[in-house]
Amino acid sequence: MIEFHSRVDPESEEFRRNAEVNRAQAEELRQLQEAITIGGSQGARDRHLQRGKMLARDRIAGLLDPESPWLEIGRLAAHEVYEEPVPAAGLVCGVGRIAGRSCMVIANDATVKGGTYYPLTVKKHLRAQEIALENHLPCVYLVDSGGAFLPLQDEVFPDREHFGRIFYNQAQLSARGIPQVAVVMGSCTAGGAYVPAMCDETIIVKGEGTIYLAGPPLVKAAIGEEVDEETLGGADVHTRISGVADQLAESDAHALELARGIIAHSNLAAGAAWNRSAAAAPRYPAEELYGIVPADLRYIYNVREVLARIVDASEFDEFKPRYGATLVCAFARVWGQLIGIVANNGILVSEAALKGAHFVQLCNRRGIPLVFLQNIAGFMVGKDAERRGIAKDGAKFVTAVACARVPKITCIIGGSFGAGNYGMCGRAFGPRFLWTWPSSRIAVMGGEQASAVLARVGARRDPDGTQREDVRARYERQSHPFYASARLWDDGVIDMIDTRDVLGASLMTALNSPLPAETPLGILRM
Ligand code: COA
Repeated sequence: MIEFHSRVDPESEEFRRNAEVNRAQAEELRQLQEAITIGGSQGARDRHLQRGKMLARDRIAGLLDPESPWLEIGRLAAHEVYEEPVPAAGLVCGVGRIAGRSCMVIANDATVKGGTYYPLTVKKHLRAQEIALENHLPCVYLVDSGGAFLPLQDEVFPDREHFGRIFYNQAQLSARGIPQVAVVMGSCTAGGAYVPAMCDETIIVKGEGTIYLAGPPLVKAAIGEEVDEETLGGADVHTRISGVADQLAESDAHALELARGIIAHSNLAAGAAWNRSAAAAPRYPAEELYGIVPADLRYIYNVREVLARIVDASEFDEFKPRYGATLVCAFARVWGQLIGIVANNGILVSEAALKGAHFVQLCNRRGIPLVFLQNIAGFMVGKDAERRGIAKDGAKFVTAVACARVPKITCIIGGSFGAGNYGMCGRAFGPRFLWTWPSSRIAVMGGEQASAVLARVGARRDPDGTQREDVRARYERQSHPFYASARLWDDGVIDMIDTRDVLGASLMTALNSPLPAETPLGILRM
């Protein structure tokens, strides 16, 4: 492959200015993540520990292999969404290695409102299961939850993508030979009882774990029976009498050891090895990204400078470099894995869309995973573009991306606006993972444009322009990556200097599942 030669001047004023802004944003992200990682309030954590229980993240650390990577999903979920703080939506999810095999871990954080399921907790749990399904990852559920967050039952219980879908997914995953393992380390009440009940194998911790369809107060109210928690659904009852759980653990640590044993004995195919060290590092330091990526999204820069700080040995072979130059398509490697990169380098015009469609087809036919780097204001607009058929050329690109069977991984490194989001494999196009940078923005269009459009259509109702300003401000707020990540429109916001490793880990995770058979493209409008 061809080595890229950077033209960046790290001594320039522009570099220094960009670096200042990007480093500040990275620091803001780091502090937010750190605060979220602590979990619930000091009081809730103290109470939890006094009961002899381990905190959710310590449980995960005990479950994973020492030195295991940890690809966390949705850490910012529910950030500033509800009236009270709900760190990580009360559910810690991510991909890590257990007994040498990549697994999805889904752990309730009981220090956050008793580990109950807010609407975004449900959404996050379902997203984690979707990742497990697509990438063939055994699931380990570390259960410690009061079930549905009752004040919001209408947003968590009845609909298709609500609480019941968790159990539907468990059945579907198990049916596909993807192990489902529960470790009951606290309460599993009502609907929550079905998490362990639907698993292939279940462990329960003595004196801590309880599983019942209705707790003692409800049992008293319903049938007048007086019963304590242990007698109703404790570890002894379920491992000796009911058979709802299979193994009794003496403590959290013991239960985690038993869970590791279950994965080790699952007779799973090996899965992809995470051999990052075997690959040649980029020739240019990732830290230079801070100075390269413009502090202002509207500035254009050469996206190859970003590629050179992400891919192995800063080498890549471009496809059609002289045609449709606003889209860079290139073959490269990350962590030694061959990939096809599709990266914006300006607005999408017809030629760029056609080139993108061609390249995506090539990668799909050859079984090469695709990585999309989104920085896109949209497709070209205007009379000329319309007459050249930008809509049908864009549709060809969108169709090729939608129908590609190879793993797709997307990182939003700048703007993600309008239909550009679709062609560049936004959330709706099923990328296996979608990551964003702190400097990125996502919305149907920019705040300026939206306020201008709305002012035109509603000018009579907004004579003094205050509504226009409101719209602009609202768009600014809603297009921020923290706002997006809090709502799980992505899998996480990452520091730009971690991009290579996050992409590498995402690729290795994706390679656990066999490549599906090729399906024909939809009709391409010519
Ligand atoms: N919905 C909404 N809030 C709930 C809740 C639920 N299902 N379960 C617990 N909470 C809240 C509590 O009100 C409390 O809030 P606060 O910290 O603001 O006071 C917080 O979660 C922690 O609960 P608490 O009872 O203090 O903690 P605990 O560790 O002693 O017990 C549970 C945790 C989950 C075992 C216990 O709260 C419980 O049994 N909850 C009801 C479970 C239930 O019946 N769920 C039905 C689901 S379909």
